Amino acid sequence: MPKKLMAANWKMFKTWEEARQTARELVVAVRNDLPDDREVLLCPPFTALRGVSEMLMQQEGFYLGGQDFYPAEQGAFTGEINPDQLLDAGCSYALVGHSERRHVLGEKDDFLASKVAFGLQKGLKVILCIGETLQERKHGQVQEVLHAQLEHGLKHISTGISAEHLAVAYEPVWAIGTGETAGPPEIQEAHDLVREKLKGILKQGEAIRILYGGSVKPENTASIISLDNVEGVLVGGASLNADKFSQIVLA
Ligand code: G3P
Repeated sequence: MPKKLMAANWKMFKTWEEARQTARELVVAVRNDLPDDREVLLCPPFTALRGVSEMLMQQEGFYLGGQDFYPAEQGAFTGEINPDQLLDAGCSYALVGHSERRHVLGEKDDFLASKVAFGLQKGLKVILCIGETLQERKHGQVQEVLHAQLEHGLKHISTGISAEHLAVAYEPVWAIGTGETAGPPEIQEAHDLVREKLKGILKQGEAIRILYGGSVKPENTASIISLDNVEGVLVGGASLNADKFSQIVLA
């Protein structure tokens, strides 16, 4: 049984020292009580990777991830960070295709597909983020959207990929940062859809971890991770506070 991945996405988290301090507080609060079936992933801004990495270095069950990367070995890509640089900073995971990169920064499916394949090829564990907008949900397009995002995002990877190297984060766009968490029926329906699609695309589709993200809070975490086909959470706002995120990790 794969361990549940309790992940934090520290978007534009203030200073590297605050990120480092929050990581330190989290490790101290959680390390002695972390259940054997849980893992913790912290995804700080690039500027804080090394600082947070030093906090996690010795802790079993704690991992570092990048929020994104550029799919190139090296070259004239001003301002970008590639997988080798994430690995060098201590990362073992990276997010790809977060809805903000899709809908705010305009990243398209083909580019995301190249990121997934390149990140895996370079040895990162990739978390492909998918999710529908409120408009798409209102028009009954949830299945169509999630299936398309998975088909496009995974089109360049081997169907024989090991389940431990890939995860999917289902983050309904309308639940991100809004306080409007998707309800258990909506989460269950979406995660079941994703599971069936993954089983149709990948040999180990049954074992790929599917995380839920979108206004996860200490008070709703236990009910979310108790659902079928939910193998973790990806948390934004509530993860910026070590005490709150500790409650989520241990829920
Ligand atoms: O990647 C996780 C993030 O998008 C969710 O944000 O603030 O709704 O937990 P939040």
